[in-house]
Amino acid sequence: MTQITTVATTPIAGQKPGTSGLRKKTPVFMGRHYLENFVQSIFDVVGAAGKTFVLGGDGRYFNDRAAQVILRMAAANGAARVIVGQGAILSTPAASHLIRLNKTDGGIIMSASHNPGGPNEDFGVKFNMPNGGPAPEGVTEAMYKRTTEITEYRVLEAQDVDLGRIGRHELGAMVVDVVDPVTDYAALMETLFDFPAIRAMFAGGFRMRMDSMCAVTGPYAVEIIENRLGAAKGTCVNATPLPDFGGMHPDPNPTWAKALMDEMFGAVAPDFGAASDGDGDRNMVVGRGIYVSPSDSLAVLAANAHLAPGYKAGLKGIARSMPTSAAADRVAEALGVHHYETPTGWKFFGNLLDAGKATICGEESFGTGSDHVREKDGLWAVLLWLNILAVRKESVAQILHEHFKRFGRNYYSRHDFEAIDTANADAMFAALRAALPGLKGQDFDGLVVTHADDFAYTDPVDGSVSTKQGVRVLFDGGSRAVFRLSGTGTEGATLRLYLERFVTGPDELGEDPQSALAPVIRAAHRIAGIAAHTGRSEPDVVT
Ligand code: G1P
Ligand code: ZN
Repeated sequence: MTQITTVATTPIAGQKPGTSGLRKKTPVFMGRHYLENFVQSIFDVVGAAGKTFVLGGDGRYFNDRAAQVILRMAAANGAARVIVGQGAILSTPAASHLIRLNKTDGGIIMSASHNPGGPNEDFGVKFNMPNGGPAPEGVTEAMYKRTTEITEYRVLEAQDVDLGRIGRHELGAMVVDVVDPVTDYAALMETLFDFPAIRAMFAGGFRMRMDSMCAVTGPYAVEIIENRLGAAKGTCVNATPLPDFGGMHPDPNPTWAKALMDEMFGAVAPDFGAASDGDGDRNMVVGRGIYVSPSDSLAVLAANAHLAPGYKAGLKGIARSMPTSAAADRVAEALGVHHYETPTGWKFFGNLLDAGKATICGEESFGTGSDHVREKDGLWAVLLWLNILAVRKESVAQILHEHFKRFGRNYYSRHDFEAIDTANADAMFAALRAALPGLKGQDFDGLVVTHADDFAYTDPVDGSVSTKQGVRVLFDGGSRAVFRLSGTGTEGATLRLYLERFVTGPDELGEDPQSALAPVIRAAHRIAGIAAHTGRSEPDVVT
């Protein structure tokens, strides 16, 4: 027997979802009524009666139990059907695909992306819309408002659904379809990329290292790269999703994916290396002895996408977030397609993709993707690189250097200053904004400011305006410094300083971005008075 129970509850402060849903420490999420209040608020806003949803997560601690709660609440709220990844596992891009493929009413994804997982680490829940993309601000605002007024939630009294068994289950009047998390996603990848060409490359001795960082892409990588593409067994490492990600910090960048970096720069490096994050939407790619910055990766992928079957008709447009380097713009100009500069956050790409204005999108923060889903997609980027390598039969280093020769090079780096006192950070931005009108024409040791503003974006599809998206200071010759405060940090404020310098020749300034960027770094520190405001002169993280 199953029975719907209405549980009296009271609002819990601070259940405000950010751009990537609601993210909190796991014990907070496991606290009394916490998950339940938020899930009921989601259903109250989007409606559940008669609807079909997708459910899955990145496998972090509490993923399995949260899934059972969400299923019982979906049933109690009248949902008709929920499609769940086996073991409650779904990567974020795979969830986005299932939402679209099955024409569902949206989906709930359990993840805190690249944040560590475990009993004392992070957990998260987000809602994606029927187009497969993250809920827009109007929707998350309504959910937040609901969490502040909630008085009851509904839950079914029932045993756990056996999420280990693929097939149809019943939960009260609701159907639960447990599906293999990889199959449909892998099939989509087969439609986009030249699997036979990549298979031939692996058969010819091409070696790769894929590091899933003990997070969700493990099973996807093993099935696609080893089983379907024939890479040697053991190519995929850290390929079993673990509740604590094996103690790793599943953020694919040179700092956290250090083992991969060491191997790729070592004596017996494979031809190609890649890593992905907790929920599988981020990626890092590395060649033998050469690191590919995410901004350069976006530009190379855009310039070569036509080599993959899914993009042979060409690109409709290329979109990048404002802090991402302008390398992709130069490709768009060469291809004769539009390029778009959006605020930080994947949701701004959704409208462009839905409207058919852009095909490929990317962010400097290790996120790249296309119109095949409505999230960034780590493995997609890895497979597109493999497709390009298989067709061009050149090394990553050769491809990059050719690219720089043709399009010029945008040296690029991001400096993060973490856990700054919030009041100090706010004071710094207030002073910086106040100084903007007087900056034009000023000379910082030969770097002359040509333009300075606080980035605002008017969505070309729905006309909505987003202001205060980061301070940009442009210098003569294509150099640039961008200042932004993180919207995802959990402790104090994080200043992100994005630095860029353009040169037309490939090797004018050598390989090291930090030395190439030194004059821009100096100018940025002087303009914002970073040390004076924050007491910091050195960043905590450099990517
Ligand atoms: C960070 C990244 C941003 C990305 C977001 C979600 O946000 O910088 O590009 O979209 O995570 O993955 P931030 O902390 O800078 O607000
Ligand atoms: Zn992620």
